[in-house]
Amino acid sequence: MTGVRKLHDATIGDLFAGERRGGAERLAEGATLLRGFAAAEAAALVAAVGTVVADAPFRHMVTPGGYRMSVAMTNCGDAGWVTDRRGYRYDPADPETGRPWPAMPVVFSALATRAAAAGGFPGFAADACLVNRYEPGSRLSLHQDRNERDYAQPIVSVSLGLPATFLFGGLERSDRPRRFRLESGDVVVWGGPSRLVFHGVDTLADGDHPVTGRCRINLTLRKAR
Ligand code: SIN
Ligand code: FE2
Repeated sequence: MTGVRKLHDATIGDLFAGERRGGAERLAEGATLLRGFAAAEAAALVAAVGTVVADAPFRHMVTPGGYRMSVAMTNCGDAGWVTDRRGYRYDPADPETGRPWPAMPVVFSALATRAAAAGGFPGFAADACLVNRYEPGSRLSLHQDRNERDYAQPIVSVSLGLPATFLFGGLERSDRPRRFRLESGDVVVWGGPSRLVFHGVDTLADGDHPVTGRCRINLTLRKAR
């Protein structure tokens, strides 16, 4: 083998080793950013969002305080997260249609289980997926995910399309959030001591992405019940 060939093989080998180690970044105890974890599946995930949305279209929900959310949402799985003047909750049916939410695509649930395991939570089985669509100018203010029954179960959050700034705070609303840039295919897993961390998404910048066009899509996979 020539020296050049050896160098070439070593380089390719290192690249793949780096991908497998996967740029996992620990954000806090129980919280991990898995850079590019879903990158290879991004187009398939967006296609599956298309099938969900055909049944349960994106809509802008209203907070209990009467504000229209800038993020458009829908759900799939056994239950869907909804908000209206009556409050935040999980509902087995889509209030817009009265029908059950679309079934969760296997690409979603399989990814959630793999990502949770990579984040230190083996055996995770998501039963609900909130699908968020951010258009330029949309944002999601700091909040905790706390409508789920069992806080021992982690949250798996998948970014697709336009990049965003993820805000990751602490257990008090007043804790100053750290800012992380999330790219298409990045996955954040948080659970254990980080399960009730305040988090949000800063105002989405304009752009155009080959996978989603002019928006960002986020999948939040949870065990709701
Ligand atoms: C969420 O907290 O529901 C979504 C987070 C994100 O869009 O990254
Ligand atoms: Fe959230």
